[in-house]
Formats: sequence, structure tokens, C-alpha cells
Amino acid sequence: MAKGRKNGLYAGISEELSALMRTGWADTERHDLEPDEQAPYAARRRAALSARFPGERLVIPSGNLKVRSNDDTYPFRPYSGYVHMTGDQARDGALVLEPLADGGHEAYCYQLPRDSRDDNEFWTGPTAELWMGRRRSLAEAERVLGLACRDVRTATADLASAVAASGAPTRIVRGVDPALEAAVATDEARDDELEEALSDLRLVKDDWETGELRKAVDSTVRGFTDVIGELSRAVASSERWIEGTFFRRARLEGNAVGYGSICAAGEHATIMHWTHNDGPVRPGDLLLLDAGVETRSLYTADVTRTLPISGTFTPLQRKVYDAVYEAQEAGFAAVKPGAAYSDFHEAAQRHLAARLVEWGFIEGPAERAYELGLQRRFTMAGTGHMLGLDVHDCAQARNEGYVAGVLEPGMCLTVEPGLYFQPDDLTVPEEWRGIGVRIEDDLLVTADGHENLSAGLPRSADEVEAWMARFAG
Ligand code: GLY
Ligand code: MN
Repeated sequence: MAKGRKNGLYAGISEELSALMRTGWADTERHDLEPDEQAPYAARRRAALSARFPGERLVIPSGNLKVRSNDDTYPFRPYSGYVHMTGDQARDGALVLEPLADGGHEAYCYQLPRDSRDDNEFWTGPTAELWMGRRRSLAEAERVLGLACRDVRTATADLASAVAASGAPTRIVRGVDPALEAAVATDEARDDELEEALSDLRLVKDDWETGELRKAVDSTVRGFTDVIGELSRAVASSERWIEGTFFRRARLEGNAVGYGSICAAGEHATIMHWTHNDGPVRPGDLLLLDAGVETRSLYTADVTRTLPISGTFTPLQRKVYDAVYEAQEAGFAAVKPGAAYSDFHEAAQRHLAARLVEWGFIEGPAERAYELGLQRRFTMAGTGHMLGLDVHDCAQARNEGYVAGVLEPGMCLTVEPGLYFQPDDLTVPEEWRGIGVRIEDDLLVTADGHENLSAGLPRSADEVEAWMARFAG
């Protein structure tokens, strides 16, 4: 809370209070901190980035707090490229790779240091530790991150003079820290290449990252089971109960949810990103739950199950469900090293196009319908995406390494076909309207195929019904 804010109840600070506040504090410097287990992995990621940009200065900020209103701020989420390259989650940080004359880079990290107790900032300033919590000292951050750390309060001046003093070209990730961006005045197209490289370097996960993704998925499986156990309470309440139930698991075991949970009952299941979660939960309808726990290291799962709220699918719900299930199976079969990334999408969409033709909702033949993309009226989205620190991970990667690329061991992606019959769609019979089904799993590409990380959740219609019979509360 800022000093002297308008309508604050204290008008000022007496000399006596100031003196009282500044004295009598213990030295809490920690000398026992060990390097974070991610530190050596982050160092290898920095080496890979360094090799891409010889002779250039690279600046990768973590980001700043965003004001919600007055002195209240939104929860902070660091820029994922910064997290990947440092293992750090601090706000107001920045990784700098300074080019060395003999090749390679020297890496250091700007950090907001601890507040001194020699003035009033530590209890009245905009980033006062006494209000917001203790930070790491620079020495502590160095030990934990395995990186040289500097005071971020001199970063804009330091970087401006470094840019002026050396001919090395500079690149910064834009849109993360406006003050640092202004200090280095770089070229936008070249900056975009840095962002692209940071996305490229996350396409193949290292062992530490796949371990985190497993944790994210395992917690998510528990969160889904929690929701099933709370279904009768959700029926008595609303989708809000489902959101809160999943969030409790996410917060307990992880950092939070990795994206806004989609708790879509009834016709809300036809809305891809339904996050209002304020509707009724009615027996006889389907519940589409798309949710993922984000670990404390900020890796997220992204899983969807579509559940019959009463415990059993109606024949029509099962017919739609089975078509989506078969499409997902077709997608799974295409996830293996050396396959084109887009193969799983094409396999799943072809299957759904064929079903839609068979049902008479789009004009055949099926291959023509697929080539024209006619199934998209009912399938809406692409069949999946990369997963990692961001739910839609690696989004800025070069096309040739991602959608136009080839799968490699260590890539992690979702396979999530769906069918959505809008409540106001006059092209389908009335009983189909308002049905939405998506099944989404998280697949890790392995040396000889893939591993379904979310296989712990029942998937076929029969398995889902059996699961609900066992756990539904
Ligand atoms: N689970 C949200 C999405 O993939 O868009
Ligand atoms: Mn997804």
C-alpha cells in the first residue's frame, strides 16, 4: 500500500515513528539455501539460447505487477520464457545474456532485492516487503538460481549505457516490461525472433520438465475425481461448485489452475471456452470439464472429460461420445516420433467428418467434406496443441518446428477432438441441440510412440460410467 495514498487514514509519518520503525530488526539473511534442482537444466537451456544468437545481447524480462484498481494488483504470473531460462518466478526480474568477445554469453539476472531498513521504503514503498512479503536477497537468489544477480533498480540505466557503449546488437522480449523495453530501444522484427527462439526451445521438454508435467497431470486426475465426488452438491448449487472444487485441489497441490477452468454443464458444453461457470448442473445433461492443475513450478496439465451428470449416458449422448472417442483413438495412433505434427489432427478430423456425413449433417463424400473443412461447423477447434509452461505452449515457435514440423521424443501435446451441436443450430434435429462432447488427454512423445500422461482418468463411455458409479457423491 503506497505511502500517503488519497483517503489514507494516516496523514504522515513523524520523525519519531520513522526512527522507531527503522530499528530493532534481526538479520534474516539465509546462508543455508541450496541451488534449485532446476538450476542445471535452466543453465543448459541458456546455453542453447546463447548458441542461437552469438555476439548479441539478449534481455528476457519476467514482467511486472498489473494494477487491478488503485493499490490492488492482479496475481502475478511471470513470462514463461523467463521461467524456462532461469527457473525463477520473481516479478520485476530480467535475464540478460551479455555477449562475450570469445563467443558465448555471460548470463546474469536482475532481481528486486530486499528492502533496506535505513529508510521508510520497506514499510511505505510501492514494493514494501513489510506489506507484500519477504523477497530473496541478491546473494540468496544467486545461490538458488545458480546465476549472478544484480539490483534491478539500476537495470534501465545499466542497459541503456551497455547498449550505448558496445556495438553488440540487443534484443528484448517485447510486451513484458515496458520500462526495460524503452531503455534498450530495439528493432521489433529482431525482437520477435528472440521470442520465437524462446518458444522453439520449449518444444522438446527436458527430463525435469516431463517430471513436472507428470505431477501436473496426476494432481489434475485427483481434481477430476474430487469433482465427481461433489456432483450432487453441484446439482444442488451450480457450475460454480465444480470450479471451486477443482480449484481447491489445484491450490493445495500446485500453484493454481493453469488456465480458467471450463465447467460447462448442459448447453454450455458447446461453448469452447465457457469460463463463466455460473449455470445450473442438471441430471440428464452432460458436464464438460476442461481443467488443469499448474504445478508450483508453473507447468500445467490440460485435460477434458465429458460426464453424464446422472451417471449414465443417454443413447444419443453415447453416440456422440463414441464418435469423439474413436476420433481421439485415431489421433493417438498418429502420435509418434517422425510423424508430421498435424497427422493426429487430420486423423481425428477425418473420422469426425465421416461421422457427420453418415449422420446427414454435412454433405459427403466424407473425404470431400474433410477437404472443404465442413466438419468444422461442429468440431470448431484444431485437435490439440503443445503443452508445458503455457497451456497453449510454444505458441510463438516457428511454423516449421511446430504445426508444419515433425514429432520428436520429449514433445508434449494435447489430443482433444470434440463435437459441439449449438442450441440454436437448425441444421440438426432438436434432440441433438445443446450436446457438446470433448475428450482431451496429454501425450508425451516417446522414443517408440507416446505415453498418455492422463491415462489415469477413465476415457471410454463404459469406463466413465463405471468410474462415476464408484465415486459419484
Ligand atoms: N483447455 C483449453 C484449451 O485448450 O483451449
Ligand atoms: Mn487444450
